[in-house]
Amino acid sequence: METNNVNLNFVNKMYRYMKNGMDIELFMAKFDISYSELTGLIELCNLYGKEISIQEQNNKYTFKKNKSKSPITTKIDIDDSSLRQTEICVVSDTHFGNIHNQLHLLNDVYQEAYNRGIDTVLHVGDLVDGNYPNRPENPRQQFLHGFDEQVGYVVDMYPKIEGMKTYYILGSHDETHYKNGQATVNDWVSRCRDDMIYLGQDTGQISINDVKIVLDHPGGGSAQSLSYKPQKRIETLESRTKPKLLLIGHYHKSYAFSYRNVECIIVPCLCDKTQFQQKQGLSNVLGAYFIDMYSDKNGNIQYFQPEEILFDKKDIWDEQGKDKRKVKKLEIKNTYY
Ligand SMILES: [Fe+2]
Ligand SMILES: [Fe+2]
Repeated sequence: METNNVNLNFVNKMYRYMKNGMDIELFMAKFDISYSELTGLIELCNLYGKEISIQEQNNKYTFKKNKSKSPITTKIDIDDSSLRQTEICVVSDTHFGNIHNQLHLLNDVYQEAYNRGIDTVLHVGDLVDGNYPNRPENPRQQFLHGFDEQVGYVVDMYPKIEGMKTYYILGSHDETHYKNGQATVNDWVSRCRDDMIYLGQDTGQISINDVKIVLDHPGGGSAQSLSYKPQKRIETLESRTKPKLLLIGHYHKSYAFSYRNVECIIVPCLCDKTQFQQKQGLSNVLGAYFIDMYSDKNGNIQYFQPEEILFDKKDIWDEQGKDKRKVKKLEIKNTYY
């Protein structure tokens, strides 16, 4: 039974990495496997009900997948061939410099994004833990103090994968460096890292395949109902400026829902519970999202599949400083995209 579960997990994982239309040579090179190992893998996938085969296309051998998509619309006359697929990864609240930061989990998420062939990651703010001169307990809660140490850590340690870009906004914690010393995190991060692109303080916007995406880092406390504040936010957006996808950081919670034709995701964090949260009785959810969506030429989302990845206690390192001692920068060169 145990073996079956292991096999199924493995099959699910590898099946996700095999993209429809992907050159099999690329896949074999990426995972360093032979052709016979690949055919074995395909047999295993079929055995578990995942339909995949190899097809010849313009003298190239590619994967052919029979994928089922869940429509978010009741419209049945969607012409699939005209839809564009967008796959992105979303992370938030890394709080670099806090003693509870979990760089190894951020690395895991980026490695997974790369394995899936994703080249765009969105970060919804609170990259660093910030500067709080009025909180006397703060120095003990951080292993990196002040602007230079925290931003230096982002520049040196944030995962770097050739061909992958991270678009980010800054949140409430990042902004404390400006409030307490007029130091701008984005200025130095994006000056030193051309793979990290700044979209704005507290809010930012990006269009991918014409799908309008807004990133928000609201600040303030959490509402009783997870969807209440995001719903209010959507109501204040004029229809002209309304995004198709709204990503919200700051709450360190995880929730995905649709409201007024906007797909909305509250993005979990990648930092363990802090002393502040402990004192306030706030819960803290660690994870990330992988989004797979199909949109039409007007940027309307026709299929939307958010995949929530959550980390639990066994994934989280609570030994202080282990991240700093043990984790190397994730850097991948000569990538296969
Ligand atoms: Fe945060
Ligand atoms: Fe925040």
